[in-house]
Amino acid sequence: MAKQEDVFKKVISHAKEYGYVFQSSEIYDGLSAVYDYAQNGVELKKNIREYWWQAMVQLNDNIVGIDAAIFMHPTTWKASGHVDAFNDPLIDNKDSKKRYRADVLIEDHVAKIEAKIDKEVAKAAKRFGDSFDKKQFLETNQRVLDYQTKADGILKRMGKSLENEDLADVKALIEELGIACPLSGSKNWTDVKQFNLMFGTKLGASADSAMDLYLRPETAQGIFVNFLNVQKTGRMKIPFGIAQTGKAFRNEIVARQFIFRMREFEQMEMQYFIKPGTQQEWYEKWKEKRMKWHLSLGMGEDNYRFHDHEKLAHYADAAADIEFKFPFGFKELEGIHSRTDFDLSQHEEYSGKKLQYFDPEENKSYVPYVLETSIGLDRMFLAVFSNSLKEEELENGTTRTVLKIPAVLAPTKAAVLPLLKRDGLPEVANKLIDELKWDFNVIYDEKDAVGRRYRRQDAAGTPFCVTVDHQTLEDDTVTIRHRDTMEQQRVKLSQVKEIISKEVDMRYWLQKI
Ligand code: GAP
Repeated sequence: MAKQEDVFKKVISHAKEYGYVFQSSEIYDGLSAVYDYAQNGVELKKNIREYWWQAMVQLNDNIVGIDAAIFMHPTTWKASGHVDAFNDPLIDNKDSKKRYRADVLIEDHVAKIEAKIDKEVAKAAKRFGDSFDKKQFLETNQRVLDYQTKADGILKRMGKSLENEDLADVKALIEELGIACPLSGSKNWTDVKQFNLMFGTKLGASADSAMDLYLRPETAQGIFVNFLNVQKTGRMKIPFGIAQTGKAFRNEIVARQFIFRMREFEQMEMQYFIKPGTQQEWYEKWKEKRMKWHLSLGMGEDNYRFHDHEKLAHYADAAADIEFKFPFGFKELEGIHSRTDFDLSQHEEYSGKKLQYFDPEENKSYVPYVLETSIGLDRMFLAVFSNSLKEEELENGTTRTVLKIPAVLAPTKAAVLPLLKRDGLPEVANKLIDELKWDFNVIYDEKDAVGRRYRRQDAAGTPFCVTVDHQTLEDDTVTIRHRDTMEQQRVKLSQVKEIISKEVDMRYWLQKI
């Protein structure tokens, strides 16, 4: 089996080679943790955003969207708690001079313990064959139970220490676990210190009158400050939601793992405004709804799991992550947070304006509670891209590289290929493109032998190749080749659009939710 690092390296190089993701300002040697989306990447990203938007806004008559500005009045961030509490606990290694997030060092240590559990499971599955019951094994095998208790204990202690701002205990935990600097192997650590993640900038022409601003570290606050505007102008009744997609910025210190942790990234967030006291019920409902959205893409149930938070953010009374199995292990993809009335109450206090809802059923006004779903678009991109990249052994002994992006999200839906560059075949191919391009992204490719063109489209993630040959001139039929199965069908030219539509239309995929 290929090593995790090798798989991940292949993902990064494939993303560049096939026009998905480039390092930002690469000609100047790049900017750390900042990336540009290329010609195919921008289409995949747009399709993921649209898949989310349709599921959240279009298909829910009580959820509407907004697009708030990135710049917000600086008091927003005082009220939201980000000025005082949006910090990462950092620790430096005195020998390598490398800086780390203390919680990430501990989580990586726990991931190693969890990897031992996976190893035990794999060993037992091999030993017991078809009769292997994974659930029972996880619940009864003593070695696995010991590992799990150890992992849970470490996370619990870290969560408590961070919540109580007990940074000395976080350092003590790192020392007790014998965690060494991944670079130098040294265990010579500084104390743990807090570091604010917001990027500051200035608004105004002169130095004296300029106002200090922040680039928003989350899109959510643009929704909170507009809560009453939307509720009144949209005549929304609780429960209702406001959704938004847009850029957010964080001065991440441990910025690695490609587009997993970036300094400039995009979020897709939804705040669901509810009656106080109903938050537990909505928390469970949205956890389930969001998991269904992920599963509808068919990327494998085993690749997702929930992780309930021990350490809660300053605004939450319950929180869980949907974790995805990235090439470097299970990591957070989406957060579901029960945010109470924290944000709206804080904005009431700092702005002096009422942010309350008059509930006609209860005949009284209150500050609504909020249930939030928040997913990183770039992380979702990485989940889709890394899960789709496969090296397949073929029956004839060769291998192919194929990017099995769910057809609904694929940047280009079909490539149209004239078998030869002559005999009128390119003209027929171009005529087909002129018809299809009103509905999908399609491309024309006439270079190289058709087998090589198939391989090129497989690697780029195009779900269909339509080949025009001499028979087309006689009976108006073409071959349509399916990327995932490599099966070819002979169909009428007039059927091509319908065949592709069936597999790429969002309706067919979203109906699974
Ligand atoms: N409004 C709540 C909020 O921002 P979060 O857990 O800090 O919560 C939500 O972020 C999601 O945003 C994460 O689950 C992740 O997918 C994405 N995200 C956060 N920081 C990121 C970063 N530096 N780079 C890429 N995505 C990030």
